[in-house]
Amino acid sequence: MTINESLQWAIGMLEQEGVENARGNAEHLLDHCLGMERTARFFLRYERALSAAEENEYRRLVTQRADRVPLQYLLGKAPFLNEDLVVDEGVLIPRPETEQVVEVAIRLLRQEGGVGDLVMFDIGTGSGAIAVSLAKELPAKVWASDVSADALKVAQANIRRLRVEGQVTLIHGDLFCPFHVLNLEGQVDLVISNPPYIPHGILGGLAPEVSQYEPWMALDGGEDGCDFYREIIPEAISFLKPDMGWLILELGDGLAIQVKDIIESQRKFAPPQIFPDLNGKARVIAAKRGQ
Ligand SMILES: C[S@@+](CC[C@H](N)C(=O)[O-])C[C@H]1O[C@@H](n2cnc3c(N)ncnc32)[C@H](O)[C@@H]1O
Repeated sequence: MTINESLQWAIGMLEQEGVENARGNAEHLLDHCLGMERTARFFLRYERALSAAEENEYRRLVTQRADRVPLQYLLGKAPFLNEDLVVDEGVLIPRPETEQVVEVAIRLLRQEGGVGDLVMFDIGTGSGAIAVSLAKELPAKVWASDVSADALKVAQANIRRLRVEGQVTLIHGDLFCPFHVLNLEGQVDLVISNPPYIPHGILGGLAPEVSQYEPWMALDGGEDGCDFYREIIPEAISFLKPDMGWLILELGDGLAIQVKDIIESQRKFAPPQIFPDLNGKARVIAAKRGQ
């Protein structure tokens, strides 16, 4: 088949299976099979025949995409801020919403203008998206935890990819547990997390790309979506620098009021600030530790 015929076949198949933006997906997978940058498509000769190997690989990937395997898993990468990060089925695909969490953190910490290396904890690091992006932008030592050993392998690949080996250390374990041995109580400038926050009851009804292929461990926030906020917020207090340390969390849809209440009920933080995303949804909450 020619490139053009293959592309038309792929678009038809993806449309039939209800894949959003079938053309974009078909083109991305074609670029991947041809080992081509997206920008090079302008020079592509659409009448050229695909080799047997290219055609087989393209059919295999398109068929998987039609089965609703997320595009990013098939490509093995996902864009995040200005980088492509490595991803596989062991990690949540980093989302644009999380880019905003990182941007808010960078802005707030730069405003403080502290001296020396900042100390940060990233709880539930997954692909390492938050940890590596912060390390790239700020003079920071980031400790990043996850309960998933598979996720930490991907995070390690991203640490290498962004060359932040000297700044980011991964620790395997439950929430803050692995941090207790570090003796960093009262010395942390930032505790940041994009925790699992989807209410358990709605997980099964999400798009198949999410509900069938992304790790539930990365999504399931318990009955009301707030289980992890209830654990992370009180535990962060003892680690944060009094009067200086920031707690910054991504917010699940409709959870802003509940999370704000959890923070305020600790009586250890200045009034939280909430940042909306481009759609006007409250997406990030930031609270500075008080005395
Ligand atoms: C929503 S994902 C966020 C991943 C990544 N930080 C991002 O923003 O793309 C939540 C992550 O928390 C991890 N996780 C779930 N339960 C955990 C726990 N008890 N302790 C540490 N990490 C946990 C999951 O494995 C997953 O990687």
